[in-house]
Amino acid sequence: MPRTEPTDPVGPLERGLTVLRALSAPGAEDRVRHSDLVRSTGLARSTVDRVVSTLDRLGLARSDGREVALAPRLMELPGAYLTACGIPAALGPAAERLADEFDESVSVAVPDDAVAGVRFVLQTTRRRTMSLAFRIGDLLPAERCAPGALFAAEWDGEAWRAWRERRDADPSAAGFAAVPPLGRPLDADGFEGRAARAGVDGWAGDDQLIEPGLAAVAVPVRDGAGRVVCAVSVVSHTSRHTLKSLRETVLPRLRAVRGELEAALAAPRPAPQAVPVRDTSLEAKRELGPDFLQSLARGLAVLGSLGADRGDGMALTAVAEATGLARATARRSLLTLEQLGYVAAEGRVWRLLPRVLELGCARLSELGLAEIAQPHLAALVRRVHESASLAVLDGADIRYVARVPTVRIMSVNITVGTRFPAYATSMGRALLAGLAREERPPLPEVLPALTRRTVTSPAELEGIIERAASDEYALVDEELEEGLRSLAVPVRGADGRVVAAVNVARHAGEGTPGEMREALLPALREAAALIEADLRALGTAGRPR
Ligand code: PHB
Repeated sequence: MPRTEPTDPVGPLERGLTVLRALSAPGAEDRVRHSDLVRSTGLARSTVDRVVSTLDRLGLARSDGREVALAPRLMELPGAYLTACGIPAALGPAAERLADEFDESVSVAVPDDAVAGVRFVLQTTRRRTMSLAFRIGDLLPAERCAPGALFAAEWDGEAWRAWRERRDADPSAAGFAAVPPLGRPLDADGFEGRAARAGVDGWAGDDQLIEPGLAAVAVPVRDGAGRVVCAVSVVSHTSRHTLKSLRETVLPRLRAVRGELEAALAAPRPAPQAVPVRDTSLEAKRELGPDFLQSLARGLAVLGSLGADRGDGMALTAVAEATGLARATARRSLLTLEQLGYVAAEGRVWRLLPRVLELGCARLSELGLAEIAQPHLAALVRRVHESASLAVLDGADIRYVARVPTVRIMSVNITVGTRFPAYATSMGRALLAGLAREERPPLPEVLPALTRRTVTSPAELEGIIERAASDEYALVDEELEEGLRSLAVPVRGADGRVVAAVNVARHAGEGTPGEMREALLPALREAAALIEADLRALGTAGRPR
């Protein structure tokens, strides 16, 4: 008998999202054993394996068959919500300015009414003595933060009933795993009074509702129809500000810029970039058979396609077009996603809901450049059998950020943090080539010769860097160390600027420089492209540390 997949078309999408939630949970390890997923999701081992192999194939998770980790590409889903809601793009610059002005953290949160919660969509962090900084996507119970009172001021009877039900079922809000336990009973009934006051006053405060020492004030930001879209908070520590002093010094200024924030939010948005979220599941299905859950892949493509919404929602036809799916297929996915609370229908159009942020956002927004690059460097090393590294520019030096060695060919042992002068290294030249001439760090009059071959003339070096800029690679042959040859390409961030370089290095005895370029440049470029794709996926939710 040939193995057949269960025919239930909705189940796989739901189960896939269950697995993604389990991997995204605040308490989950970075790498989770498949067997632990079986336990935490209640799904059968074979289901977990199929979901994971589908997510792996889609580039949303990485599994070695035993352990699985979220992959940065997953951020495209929360990123779709963040783009569609438009808040980070519209309010980001003003939030940065306010954070500078107050020298305090400024955050923006949206209501997640399905759970009477509040989710962060923007964070500019100036945390000093606070033990806790929330991440993009983190979920707070409305009763324990300033934005929650502002959102609750708009609640109807049904919403209040839902809140009471949730509070009664989970009095300590243990379901909100990003929030520490309070350590004292919260006067939850006081929330209704605080919400009513927030509605009248047009602002809300948080006097250590999250943790001792943390105080915040928040104001609502409304859309053209007067609906509260989000809340902007200024967060401080009681060693610098009490709620009273925040109210006296910060609040007036926050209120003064509210109109400006509302105008920024209402401003017309650029048309979506045509990033088709094409359904490529047929090919994968052919390859992986029952280990590829096509309806999971299609449902996630539908979810991602709603990121092209520019504030007016998206019609079924547009979703079908963007994904290349039949209308009936796209509609089925939308209905499942609606049932699960990730999208909402409004008349004839569909929108993403903040709950999409629970899919990996908080965990992935914390990834640094090293963690993003590491798996790609490891794959490159497996492919070309040479050491590979990633470095950034630090003044006139390069600084290693990630490295996967094979055999040691340098006389010094390179580790993360190692610095070399940029002018004599391939990564340095690729990095310098990414800067406009006037942005490049000044170099000494005479460049020290590190080997017999080091280019020491600034004029000659400038020509080499210009050449690296047009070639999009740099090759350095025994200029840093005798016997060492290295080839590097730039890595561009989400905004297209060069943020890092990757290289491979080998013994100068192995063939000619031209042969090294022929043999290694394509693989090096592919590795850089994969790192760049991850950086783009993470771009909407904040830049890597
Ligand atoms: C935060 O941005 O971390 C924050 C904002 C408002 C609160 C508490 C925390 O009430």
